Amino acid sequence: MIGTYILEISYIIASVFFIFGLKMLSHPETARKGNIVAAIGMVLAIVFTIIFHKKDGQSIGNVGFILAALLVGTVIGWVVAKRVKMTAMPQLVSLFNGMGGFCAALISLMEFPHLAHGAATAPVLTGEVLSILIGLFIGSVSFSGSMIAFGKLNGNVGDLRIKWLKYVNIGMLLIIIVFIGFIMSKGDVNPLDIMPLIYILLAMSLFYGVLFVMPIGGADMPVVISLLNSFTGVAAATGGFLYSNQAMLTGGILVGSAGTILTVLMCKAMNRSLLNVVVGVFGGGGASADQVDGSIREISLSDSAVLLSYSQKVVIVPGYGLAVAQAQHLCHELEKLLEEKGAEVRYAIHPVAGRMPGHMNVLLAEADVSYDKLIEMDDINSDLPNTDVVVIIGANDVVNPAAENDPSSPIYGMPIIQAHDAKNIIVMKRGMGKGYAAIENVLFFNEKTRMLFGDAKSTLQKLVAEVKSL
Ligand code: TAP
Repeated sequence: MIGTYILEISYIIASVFFIFGLKMLSHPETARKGNIVAAIGMVLAIVFTIIFHKKDGQSIGNVGFILAALLVGTVIGWVVAKRVKMTAMPQLVSLFNGMGGFCAALISLMEFPHLAHGAATAPVLTGEVLSILIGLFIGSVSFSGSMIAFGKLNGNVGDLRIKWLKYVNIGMLLIIIVFIGFIMSKGDVNPLDIMPLIYILLAMSLFYGVLFVMPIGGADMPVVISLLNSFTGVAAATGGFLYSNQAMLTGGILVGSAGTILTVLMCKAMNRSLLNVVVGVFGGGGASADQVDGSIREISLSDSAVLLSYSQKVVIVPGYGLAVAQAQHLCHELEKLLEEKGAEVRYAIHPVAGRMPGHMNVLLAEADVSYDKLIEMDDINSDLPNTDVVVIIGANDVVNPAAENDPSSPIYGMPIIQAHDAKNIIVMKRGMGKGYAAIENVLFFNEKTRMLFGDAKSTLQKLVAEVKSL
């Protein structure tokens, strides 16, 4: 009995660790510690469960297997996380997220046959069964959807843009809901007798996860990534209901609600409605004008250095290319140099710049860029007309004016950093490569724009040297 109390208390303590960990994750300076705090909570919950959990008076069995699985999982997770390049981090996050969904689905698959608890039959119209079926559905969607998202972020999976797919998606979702109702209407059954229905639900859910993410492409991926994240949390929370496990329940709810808040923020950032996300209908779908009339103008390193050195207000717009080039430290060096020359330098942060939520914040925090220099898109846009130079480093879609003035563009409606309003625009990129949404950017042809071609790291290295020499 005392063991049960200790276990319950350990779950409450673990939950407190999760909450504090999550709170600390919300700021780059405390994020690393927050991760450790949440991990300590998880270790605590696992260890106390192994020691104190009892079912029908029996302690947990197969401890050797559990410890071996923990060891294998820890080693794989450690090695993968240590080896992964910063630019492949979004893919890794998708993979880990999918694994969470997979675990929730496995719990449902394991627990359904045990519903009868040794008796011949069990009723299936219960909260317990609903938790199992919802966990199976959402967990499987999160798993297969995250695998497709992984492939898309990795560049292995393209977008499937078929107009009628949205109707298939809606139909599929309705069929799954009706099917769950059908399983629950079975009355008293031997769970083993209806296992084939459970496998059908599993297959349909996995298929729906693929269908749901396949059409989503280009600039709309951030919304689906955060939505899948919240799905995994909800799926884990159903496991918490099932086992009356407060730590699992709190952990799942925290991930689910954090993911939902992020989804709402991403929807706002992309100007999409949540309904569109759920049925997987995105963007204008039409091909944006891929041919832009006009010519581009280049700028030399020395001219860029002069322009920047004599500017009062400079705004840097970081994008995915900055992360690829790993040029954040040089970017910070340039910022300090320009400030020494009397300029005010700030960073314009678009919520979906890069490939994962908060990507630019994390990247710049790594280079010790002061957090108060990172200005959100909505706050900086009104000040851009007074800005002498906007320096765009490896950003493309997030400054593409087509989002504002080309209704046929797939990114039409997405709020952007209005770099085109600045007095001068310098764009650093390797060539005329497109961004994630794979569309042309008219900003590069704007008469105020000057292109500074080259890898962001080597260009910034040379630019810093030029500015120093002035
Ligand atoms: P992108 O539109 O992807 O553009 C990045 C640009 O960086 C490319 O045009 C590329 O042009 C340039 N580049 C690549 N490597 C470079 C290097 N080494 N040096 C210099 N430039 C380099 O980036 P963005 O503006 O940050 O927009 C993000 C996009 O990703 C949005 O469409 C967003 O919706 C999508 N997305 C975001 C997320 C999240 S959650 N943030 C997740 C998935 C997708 P060159 O090849 O010519 O150099």
